[in-house]
Amino acid sequence: MTPNHSLLVFIGAALTFFTPPPSAAGASTTPSASAKALVAPITKDASTSLYTLSLNANQPFVLDLTGPFLWSPCPPKHRTVPCDATACAAAGSFLSPHCPPITVAYENPCACTASLTNPVTGACSFDDLTLSTITISATDGRNPTSTVNVSGVVSSCAPKSLLISLPKTAAGVAGLGRSGLALPSQLAAKLSLKKQFAICLPSSGASAPGAAFFGSEPFYFLAAPPFDDAARVTYTPLLKQPASPAYYLKAKGLAVNGAAVPFLARMLEFDSLGHGGVTISTAVPYTTLRSHIYRPLLAAFGEATRGVRRKPRVEPFGLCLDSRALPTTRVGYGVPQVELMLEGGKNWTIFGANSMKQVDEETACFAFVDGGPKAERAVVVGGYQLENSFLLFDLARSRLGFLSTLLGIMTTCSNFNFTVGV
Ligand SMILES: *[C@@H]1O[C@H](CO)[C@@H](O)[C@H](O)[C@H]1NC(C)=O
Ligand SMILES: *[C@@H]1O[C@H](CO)[C@@H](O)[C@H](O)[C@H]1NC(C)=O
Ligand SMILES: *[C@@H]1O[C@H](CO)[C@@H](O)[C@H](O)[C@H]1NC(C)=O
Repeated sequence: MTPNHSLLVFIGAALTFFTPPPSAAGASTTPSASAKALVAPITKDASTSLYTLSLNANQPFVLDLTGPFLWSPCPPKHRTVPCDATACAAAGSFLSPHCPPITVAYENPCACTASLTNPVTGACSFDDLTLSTITISATDGRNPTSTVNVSGVVSSCAPKSLLISLPKTAAGVAGLGRSGLALPSQLAAKLSLKKQFAICLPSSGASAPGAAFFGSEPFYFLAAPPFDDAARVTYTPLLKQPASPAYYLKAKGLAVNGAAVPFLARMLEFDSLGHGGVTISTAVPYTTLRSHIYRPLLAAFGEATRGVRRKPRVEPFGLCLDSRALPTTRVGYGVPQVELMLEGGKNWTIFGANSMKQVDEETACFAFVDGGPKAERAVVVGGYQLENSFLLFDLARSRLGFLSTLLGIMTTCSNFNFTVGV
């Protein structure tokens, strides 16, 4: 296999752009009230392949980039929110089109009810909107510093049955979607943080968590030399779809090994009903594409790897290769790159570590899934393709900063130093 050109460029960039980290000398200890950023660990659950955000000293909340707010079961006695509060109107603006409208019995005074969706099963429910306190660490971008209690966070109660299909230990779901009630917006508003958040999903289990950040950069991962991930990202616009709190990308096409995959690029846009489009979801284990896009992608990847010994297919994948026949590189198996071509000629490049899933000792499968001909979204970029990627959601400017893999710059999402600094 020929050397991977983009990879060499990437490593070159890592060496050229090294600037010494700013000296901490003379900095006074930051009181939590003026923290500029917060950090929380992200853990991958082995049995569900879902990612959880750890809040309130080790309570795992399923990370949901498409969810409008945080929800979890409440004790019988809990606070409620009046129906005429702004938060109640905000919660009501994201009723999933797949869920029935809320029908609440008349009460006086009226307590607000929120509509909820399980991000994995799509099951709908409703329960009281409430106020909770979130405990999270402040960070200077290198270590957690102090613990912060954020009170009065608008969230929702949920019936315990809505936790079905989520990790057994899950306390609830943390919606990080594009909504004024999502955790990033509420934390930014309450603590006067910069309106952005970042996620870096780990590829392995609980012993090596990734990280989520809320607020201002820098965001350092241990590396030699250390660098601020936020300073390295490529930006692409985030599109809005009214009534959907998910984040959408403006994509132009897909490519395998430098050649465009043949399909109608129009399918990547929204249709008149608001269906279609390219979104990102950590609740979907593998990137899922409509059949009309999946089939040509699979064919292109099959063609580009035609010299490699095949293995029997393993569900839900369409193509499996004999992994003993694949070279290994710093960015995973040396297989043809898959590119998501974005607005402005920018590419999200997917290397072997994010395109091939090892299913047994000898078999690695092309980790993309057929969503069927009628999938609501044209492409949903899923968790496996996001592992060890750094994603910075700039809410104020509605853009996504991304580094498609940290492996090429010799670090991983599990390299944030969670030892409390002084
Ligand atoms: C946060 O709340 C917990 C539980 O009420 C309390 O023990 C802790 O001292 C509080 N921390 C801060 C920094 O206020
Ligand atoms: C993006 O990918 C396409 C297909 O591989 C390629 O033709 C194009 O040059 C790439 N653009 C950049 C900026 O690398
Ligand atoms: C992690 O942070 C702690 C606290 O600042 C520091 O003592 C330790 O050396 C750091 N670990 C590494 C590997 O840099």
